[in-house]
Amino acid sequence: MTGKLRSARWFDTDDLRGFGHRSRLMQMGYGLEDWNGRPVIAIMNTWSDINPCHAHFRHRVEDVKRGILQAGGFPVELPALSLSENFVKPTTMLYRNLLAIETEELLRSHPVDGAVLMGGCDKTMPGLLLGAISMDLPCLFLPAGPMLRGNLKGEILGSGSDTWKYWDERRAGRIGREEWQGVEAGIARSYGHCMTMGTAATMTAIADAMGMCLTGASSIPAPDSNHIRMAAATGRRAVELVLEDLRPSRVLSAASFANSLNVAMAMGCSTNAIIHLIALSRRAGHPLTLEDFHAAGRRVPVLANIRPSGERYLMEDFYYAGGLRALMAQMGHLLDGTARTVTGKILGDEIKGAEVYLPDVIRGLDNPVSAEPAMAVLRGNLAPDGAVIKPSAADPRLLEHRGPALVFDSYADMKARIDDPDLDVTADAVLVMRGAGPQGGPGMPEWGMLPIPQKLLRYGVRDMLRISDARMSGTSYGACILHVAPEAHVGGPLALVRTGDRIRVDVRAGLLEMEVGPEDLARRRAEWVPPSPRYERGYGWAFTRHVMQADQGCDFDFLATGFGAAVAEPEI
Ligand code: FES
Ligand code: MG
Repeated sequence: MTGKLRSARWFDTDDLRGFGHRSRLMQMGYGLEDWNGRPVIAIMNTWSDINPCHAHFRHRVEDVKRGILQAGGFPVELPALSLSENFVKPTTMLYRNLLAIETEELLRSHPVDGAVLMGGCDKTMPGLLLGAISMDLPCLFLPAGPMLRGNLKGEILGSGSDTWKYWDERRAGRIGREEWQGVEAGIARSYGHCMTMGTAATMTAIADAMGMCLTGASSIPAPDSNHIRMAAATGRRAVELVLEDLRPSRVLSAASFANSLNVAMAMGCSTNAIIHLIALSRRAGHPLTLEDFHAAGRRVPVLANIRPSGERYLMEDFYYAGGLRALMAQMGHLLDGTARTVTGKILGDEIKGAEVYLPDVIRGLDNPVSAEPAMAVLRGNLAPDGAVIKPSAADPRLLEHRGPALVFDSYADMKARIDDPDLDVTADAVLVMRGAGPQGGPGMPEWGMLPIPQKLLRYGVRDMLRISDARMSGTSYGACILHVAPEAHVGGPLALVRTGDRIRVDVRAGLLEMEVGPEDLARRRAEWVPPSPRYERGYGWAFTRHVMQADQGCDFDFLATGFGAAVAEPEI
């Protein structure tokens, strides 16, 4: 540490302000020995009564505090937006940037020297880290940990993925109400985030590979006692980080982002990783682009045999198989071992000697889970700024496909018509839904795994080509082309497709085209009427004015690094 603590500006001044701050600490029962000269560690806790993924944070925070106290720090819990994926509507993505702002401003405005960021449920890791990167105080991330495997009569159930699967079986008339209720009661049986390779498992692994948490911490199941010990160790380390002045800007490098990108691919990551990682990398000043994802998808095979890319296993198995350290140790040249981590060691040293105990769960480079990549980027006259697909979770026969479009103008339109017995649709149709992008959704909801029309489900159809400007849950699967940019709401070409147009997709060639001539498209564009704005006041108004498109990570333009001069420390 160089010089005085940041918090000393609040506590260690012989003036009226210092008097006020000290007397108010004393009001809470603290004495000089509690704070004097000690690093103040903010614990950003995204607990809430309605976030099942973070239910344990109410107690786990005490373990973090224990660690901070052991190391001579002064813990201060600062509750932050919980962003419960299941309950927050229309989508948590509308609020990721709000959590980012909250994180940055909470850290800036309070007398804190460093931080522990407690998150896990999908948008919480990017929300917390985006803000923490911009504020740049010494900090580390505490991953919530995955929940235990789901169970139905001895069958293993995975979050999300099995919900969709059983729901299709129910819509096809193959299972009854009783079995469906069994799924409901058995699929989420402990606290912790989704245990499939959804967005939470993806993003916490990314934080880990990026060097922003204790290495390997992201794999520990939430209810495991190792998670409690890890929480205390995280608290201890936060204090040391302050003393070492190890800030995100000194941990993160282009190598950290290259590593997290490659690890995401090897994990068979959620498509949401693209948006969040692009946003994070841009904030940190080491920007990734869609092309980086496409290239990484070709370079890095899927090694984690976890649903939905894998067929059997879940995050609990992944932990028993050796966890992320073991997976990273398998990656060899695909990882830059010189990248720094918050542990103070380089990544290569952190993963040295990590072993794979269950080789079917964590595969070697010579025996990948899927011949298809975790991610591919498509471009063409339908998506000039790109679209994405998860080939490893799609029926391979659809990766090169030509078929007639069946267009839905909105999510409501799709819901109203998709199960109509008279719907004019065949299995080779391409389902298109628009109006679900960052501005149109609003917030780009996870609507991109459009349901298979009931009519076709009854014939056994389980996958079709689907295109939208929405996202999809990382636990989703199927030939879903997502994140079409620019979105339809702002006049992207997706707004011009009509039912019956031929759509051509070639994933290996990176192609997404509508076979409509330029004159026709020009005519349609002239006839296009922009939709009315989604909000006329409030946060939603600010969101739709400032959110950038999916290919740029959906950050707010005014939060971008380089937008205006850096914000000064507050006057005290
Ligand atoms: Fe929280 Fe899936 S709902 S991680
Ligand atoms: Mg999710």
